[in-house]
Amino acid sequence: KHTYGDGNHSCSSLYMASGQLSRAEALACSGCRHACHVMLYCDTNTLLFGSIPIRHIVLMQMRFDGLLGFPGGFVNLSEESLEAGLGRELLEELGVAFQILEEDHVDSCFAPASSPASSTSPRLITHFYTKKMEEGQIRAVETAAVTTATDHGQEVLGMVRVPLHSTKGGGGLASFLSHSFVGNARFQLLHTLLRLHLVAPEELREALARSLKIQA
Ligand code: GTP
Ligand code: MN
Ligand code: MN
Ligand code: MN
Ligand code: MN
Ligand code: MN
Repeated sequence: KHTYGDGNHSCSSLYMASGQLSRAEALACSGCRHACHVMLYCDTNTLLFGSIPIRHIVLMQMRFDGLLGFPGGFVNLSEESLEAGLGRELLEELGVAFQILEEDHVDSCFAPASSPASSTSPRLITHFYTKKMEEGQIRAVETAAVTTATDHGQEVLGMVRVPLHSTKGGGGLASFLSHSFVGNARFQLLHTLLRLHLVAPEELREALARSLKIQA
């Protein structure tokens, strides 16, 4: 059974899945607020400095609040499905019409309680999706995000690619992970990089450990 408001149940650890709930359980919570976010990614042959393989492009965004997160947002289940709401948010934030499908859904989690006071407000359930695209489509998203997206310069300050490589000096992914993320976006990123084999487990572990030292 899920415990409410204890702050420890979120999907915030690489090794604990507590706080997770099934899609059906999530949809059954009528008193909850819902938000959907997606990781758009692709394969690439691009070389950094002509020698370091980038391997994959993974998109995140710099938000209005200075935190890194995935594109997406609040969904109103009385007006739209999870996927339709996510599509609407992506049009606002990226300027591209997307068809996100139920099969793109990864998991649903209770958001970490931000403060003791927030335990009285409706619980937020965050739904996470991944969508693999072609490199050309990812580039088109990056272009549209600064040209046609209505949220550009307001709620969204820019799309960013996640550096998946590690430099000799210990930069790259570790430095990226040391920044501040919204909600459990950092965990969503780590978990997805691992699950989709976008970064080798050992490299990811090292980058995570280095990022914690950078933060300290
Ligand atoms: P508004 O138009 O201002 O309502 O924003 P929005 O609809 O785009 O919502 P937003 O993307 O900020 O997401 C809603 C809530 O979900 C946020 O307040 C955060 O608590 C949480 N959130 C935002 N981004 C992420 C993310 O990438 N991952 C997770 N897990 N939660 C997120
Ligand atoms: Mn939005
Ligand atoms: Mn948003
Ligand atoms: Mn919104
Ligand atoms: Mn908005
Ligand atoms: Mn790979």
